Amino acid sequence: MNFKLLAKTMAVLILFCVFSTSTFAGQVEVLHWWTSGGEAKSVAILKGLLEKEGHSWKDMAVAGGAGENAMTVLKTRAMAGNPPTAAQVKGPAIQEWAREGLLANLDPVAKKENWDKLVPSVVTDIMKYQGHYVAVPVNVHKINWMWCNPSVFIKAKAKIPTTWAEFETAAKKIKAAGFIPVAFGGQAWQEATVFESVVIGQAGAAFYKKALVDTEPGALNSPQMIKALKTFKMIKKYTDKNAPGRDWNMATSMVIKGEAAMQFMGDWAKGEFTAAGKNPGTDYVAIPAPESAGTYLFNIDSFIMFKQKDKSAQQAQNAMARLILGKKFQEVFNVNKGSIPVRSGIAKASFDDIALRSMDEFAAAAANGTLMPSMAHGMAVYPAVQGAIYDVVTEFYNSDMTAKEAAAKFVTTIAAAK
Ligand code: GAL
Repeated sequence: MNFKLLAKTMAVLILFCVFSTSTFAGQVEVLHWWTSGGEAKSVAILKGLLEKEGHSWKDMAVAGGAGENAMTVLKTRAMAGNPPTAAQVKGPAIQEWAREGLLANLDPVAKKENWDKLVPSVVTDIMKYQGHYVAVPVNVHKINWMWCNPSVFIKAKAKIPTTWAEFETAAKKIKAAGFIPVAFGGQAWQEATVFESVVIGQAGAAFYKKALVDTEPGALNSPQMIKALKTFKMIKKYTDKNAPGRDWNMATSMVIKGEAAMQFMGDWAKGEFTAAGKNPGTDYVAIPAPESAGTYLFNIDSFIMFKQKDKSAQQAQNAMARLILGKKFQEVFNVNKGSIPVRSGIAKASFDDIALRSMDEFAAAAANGTLMPSMAHGMAVYPAVQGAIYDVVTEFYNSDMTAKEAAAKFVTTIAAAK
């Protein structure tokens, strides 16, 4: 062995590594709200993939489901002229950020990676501003699910409900048997999440669109809306006194532990069951929220990317964008997160029955016109209108306001927010 030659080669190699790191490796600072057990596990996958390519990840996690707190932090950072490299922003809010002129154009990555071909246009339309990519989609979550602990139903001799009438029958039995029928988190976004599932289930997708997407006064203040509001408020009878302020994952954990029978929540709840080592079908069951079978309220997570001056930061940012829609991330992340891949060409083998059902339902709902954007999760309306709806829903849920008053208040509050 020629030690001199070996030493020389090593030195060249070390130099090359140092050189290549300083040239290509950069840092991404990522603002997101994925802090629950299942969420943190999922986002760590992206961090790992970026680090594998030599980049570093500065975590800017802001706790608070549905990102209300995260959005406040993001606005403050942007106003101070110090936005992160990437931030979790969804739906129409992407357009608002793009209008500010702060976002990076991701077209080169998108073109190279063929995003237009891999991702359905219902999704890419949301990610583009004036025809250019300014955001990367991560996944598809379905909102209108009901998560059940079957053993609680068995102990209470109750049947898992598919209608709201059956729900009341089951909830009474579960309560009488000493369990909490509904694990509920009393936060505005969670109330809105349950509310929109009731609306689409009871009044149908076409009505949902008129009321919570197009915000037509005639739909907002209508007999169907009043009925849905009453059903939504009825659920409250079957929640516990500690519900106000409870985080969504704490509510999920009540179902996991068998303290509560069911939770109405999007399928990020599945991420908690998965992180707790629970098996679908046996330990827990997920079926559509009552009367909502055949409809699909979608929620697509995405990251907007802010313009970067620094070349290495740009490269890290582009790598992040590429990796998010890469096969590896789409598979492993979504299995952990409870969502389904947002692009085509991902092997289905590692997904469970709930995810496979969600994939089929997404396609069927898209074909039937029952695929609807989630209002509660910022997919349907601009943030100001969403905030107005949240306000009325939460006031109605937490006060003596009648359903009739709430329906009328939707119209005035939304008009004032527009
Ligand atoms: C949603 C988001 C999900 C999940 C949930 C709870 O808005 O799309 O990915 O994180 O909030 O935090």
